Amino acid sequence: MSWGLQNRVSRLMKGGRTVMLAIDHGYFQGPTTGLENPRKTITSLLQYADSLMLTRGILRTSVDPGESLPIVLRASGGTSILKELSDEVVTTSIEEALRLNASAVAVSVFVGSPNERQTLANLAELVNEGERYGMPVLAVTAVGREMARDARYLGLACRISAELGASIVKTYYCEDFRKVIDGCPVPVIIAGGKKLPEREALQLAHDATSEGAVGVDMGRNIFQSSNPAGMIKAVRGVVHDGKSVDEAFRIFEKEKPPRAE
Ligand code: R5P
Repeated sequence: MSWGLQNRVSRLMKGGRTVMLAIDHGYFQGPTTGLENPRKTITSLLQYADSLMLTRGILRTSVDPGESLPIVLRASGGTSILKELSDEVVTTSIEEALRLNASAVAVSVFVGSPNERQTLANLAELVNEGERYGMPVLAVTAVGREMARDARYLGLACRISAELGASIVKTYYCEDFRKVIDGCPVPVIIAGGKKLPEREALQLAHDATSEGAVGVDMGRNIFQSSNPAGMIKAVRGVVHDGKSVDEAFRIFEKEKPPRAE
């Protein structure tokens, strides 16, 4: 692994842990709830994130070029919620990622889907190209509508991603999550998934990090929260400061703006 690639990976981590703020949902969902105006959404959150995951279009239009937060650039897409989600291609080159000063690129793999081979080839292509320039690849183990989110399936998808050369793998928390971690030789982070009540989302982050994940790549459970800044601070408490779920929930509650009468 080149020094440059290791350096980029280390930018994403603080003491081996990471809170990645995901705002790339629009690449197939369009104007996702809470992200209609990405710049407005992220302004109060960037200071609490270790990195920001997004597409080049939102980076160019919604993030100040003076921003020093490490960028994880989504590099796969080409489909929408109206079509087969797994039908992705590489949309952003490593050269463009370098031009945008990204710290990593992200690509979805849809293991077991009709486009399994194509999406794994997308990952391999970005790893091959990324190795030439010291650009790490984050593999996103996407779960098709019909796929079970269990340790057997997620373990398979994570291991294949690592075997193909991903530097970090993003997956979902599940029962027997340790099995997923034990079978994956590179750091694993978890997605938050659909919006949950805040305490449940904090529990998810807590369980995943207690069972071996190095952090979260969380979107909707932060930006769709009634108090996004309080929520990301609470998530940080869990990931970086070893807070319990109760302690983290108190951080969220404390930060909550008073309800308008
Ligand atoms: C898919 O839309 C993206 O890769 C998201 O970045 C990822 O699923 C994390 O976002 P969330 O926590 O909302 O699931």
